[in-house]
Order: sequence, then structure tokens, then C-alpha cells
Amino acid sequence: MQAIILAGGKGTRLRPLTLSIPKPITTIANRPFLYYQLEMLKKAGVEEVILGLSYQPEKIMEVFGNGEKLGIKIRYLVEPEPLGTAGAYKFAESLINRTTIVFNGDILTNIDMAMAVKLHRERNATATIILVPVENPSAYGLVETSTDGKVLRFLEKPKANEITCNTINAGMYVLEPKALSYIPRSQEHSFEYQLFPRLLKEKEPFYSIISKDYWLDIGTNSRYLQANLDVIANKLSLEITRTRLAAWQSAHIDDLSLVDETVNLETNVEITNSVIGANCAIEREAKIKDSVILPNTKIKANVIIEKSIIGENCLIKESSTILKGSVLGNNTSISDFSQIGLEL
Ligand code: GDD
Ligand code: MG
Repeated sequence: MQAIILAGGKGTRLRPLTLSIPKPITTIANRPFLYYQLEMLKKAGVEEVILGLSYQPEKIMEVFGNGEKLGIKIRYLVEPEPLGTAGAYKFAESLINRTTIVFNGDILTNIDMAMAVKLHRERNATATIILVPVENPSAYGLVETSTDGKVLRFLEKPKANEITCNTINAGMYVLEPKALSYIPRSQEHSFEYQLFPRLLKEKEPFYSIISKDYWLDIGTNSRYLQANLDVIANKLSLEITRTRLAAWQSAHIDDLSLVDETVNLETNVEITNSVIGANCAIEREAKIKDSVILPNTKIKANVIIEKSIIGENCLIKESSTILKGSVLGNNTSISDFSQIGLEL
């Protein structure tokens, strides 16, 4: 089985983190995000994955190479200019000769794709789309279905008065090569705005599967933080190795937190429900809660950080307080006694 991951977007809603790296390799629980998708695809029996790239492609290639280390064959396609979601799939046409799994490159999930492919085949579908229920579909593609699973309507980013159900496009599809024949070559083209409505118009067998598994689009700052905390809370049942070095004995680290083994922790540092990246240094009495600290950041004595994302290579000087969903880009320096996110 083959798969293509659409990993060429600019990740604008995840700035500042995505100014220096593309969204698919922002780290979730200290691992470049695409590892989670590649491992899941491998588990579903996929031997070969195409990564459809456009924004900062070489940075993604550097991380995964030819996939040898992961035991999965990875090929890269770099679009000359962004071709859109369906355009990226069409751009891979010469490499596609069988049923293909297509993933948006920002979905954290543990849905069983082998089961989805099986159902897709039993139904003789041209396209199968995975759906998930959400409270507010407005940021997603709304999908209406019939009781036998047929897709009846696809409406991308519906306005409030257009919301008729709670099932949305999970950004995961199983497609037959026939779907390629409805996509023009070398042109920007969208699954959501163009191909899916067209499949319905042409009366192609277009089916859905509603999943109740864990699912999250990591593409905004709040969901990126949530994805990190959900992984360490074991919501996806992934194996996580939590190191506790003897040198950290005088620090207080709760059972959930994930601290890279290269981190330096001084006495009475408190780390609760947080992820701390490689080579960070945290000085005495600092308290970090519900947060993600990216690699190479220095946190000085008595700092308090809560519910925030701190980029790489930052310097947070003594006794500063950073609260309530603050997001600091890479290389930010914060002076002593600063207050961010506090009520005055
Ligand atoms: N190769 C390539 N080229 N990839 C692209 C391009 C492109 O031109 N444009 C977007 N992508 C990739 C992004 O990198 C991302 O992984 C994926 O396509 C989806 O783009 P997003 O920008 O994250 O879309 P969205 O989250 O607003 O909406 C999409 O996902 C929702 C689920 O999270 C849609 O598919 C919705 O219908 C869906 O509900
Ligand atoms: Mg997205």
C-alpha cells in the first residue's frame, strides 16, 4: 500500500514556530511531528510514503532522509509553487498506481487506517473520507452523510448559519487512482473546494467513515500545546520513555512531564505536566506548568511559566512570570522581573 502526506503548507496559524521550520516537523513531545504519522502508516501496512512538499522542503528531507531508519520508503516531491491539496496529489500522479492513503500533514490521531482501506474496498468506493465529530465545524470541512455512509455534501469552512451537522473532514482519505482523472495537471487545485464537490456531482462512489478515536489538527498555537499535553497524558496510547536522571534529584518533576535527558535542572525546579526540549537549562526554584519549552532555552532562577509555549534558544531572565497562553518565538530574550499574561 502507498500513502501521500500533504506537507507543503506554510503553517501560518502556527507562527511564530513555523517561521523557521515547516509545521510537519515542529516537535510534539520532543519528536518531529511527522514521525507520528509515518509510524501510524507503517502500522497500517504502508511500505511507501510520498511527502508532498513546498514550504522549506529541505528541512523536512534532512529529518527523514529516505526513511531507512524508520523502515518505510520515503520519496519527496517538491512543487515548483504550492499546488494546493489536490494539486499536490496530482503532482504525484506518476508515482501513484494503486489505492492510496492521503493525509493532511498536521493530523495527530490513532485511527486504524488498515480498517478504513478494508471498508473502502468492500464498498467499491472511488473515495473514502474519515470524519470526526467536533463541537464547532467552522474551522474545518463540514461533511453531511447518509445512514449508509455515503457522502451527501462537502462544505469547507462553513459559516455559522451553514452548519447542519457536527461531522467534519478529518483530513484523511483513501483514494483510487481514478480520482486523479478529475484533477487538472500543473494547476492549483483543492480537495475541499473542488475535487470533493466534483466527485459528488459526477455521482462517484464517495463514502465516509466516522471515527471516535483520538484526533487533533495541530495547526494552531493552542492545539499545538494541546497535542503535546495529550501525548504525555497518554491519550494516544503511544509508548513514551521518561528519563529521570540522578542529577535531577533535587528537582520536582511530576509523572506526566517529559524532560529530555540533556536538560540541566537546578535545585527545587518544579516541572508539572510539561515538555522540556534538548539542552535546556533551568535554574533554581523555577516553576514550569502545562507548557512546552523548545530546545536550547535557558530559564533563570525563580521564573514561573504556565500554559505557554517557549521557542528555541530563548533566554528568560530571573524572576520573570509568563502565563496564560503566551507564545514566544525562537531567540526571544526576556529581561529580569518581566510579566507576560498577568492581570495588572
Ligand atoms: N504539498 C502541499 N501543497 N501541501 C499543502 C498545500 C500545498 O499547496 N496546501 C496545504 N497543504 C497541506 C498543509 O501542509 C496541511 O498539512 C494540509 O495540506 C491541510 O492544510 P491546512 O492549511 O492545515 O488546512 P485546514 O486545517 O485549514 O483544513 C483542512 O484540514 C481540516 C482537518 O484538520 C481541510 O482538509 C479541512 O476540510 C479539514 O476539516
Ligand atoms: Mg490543518
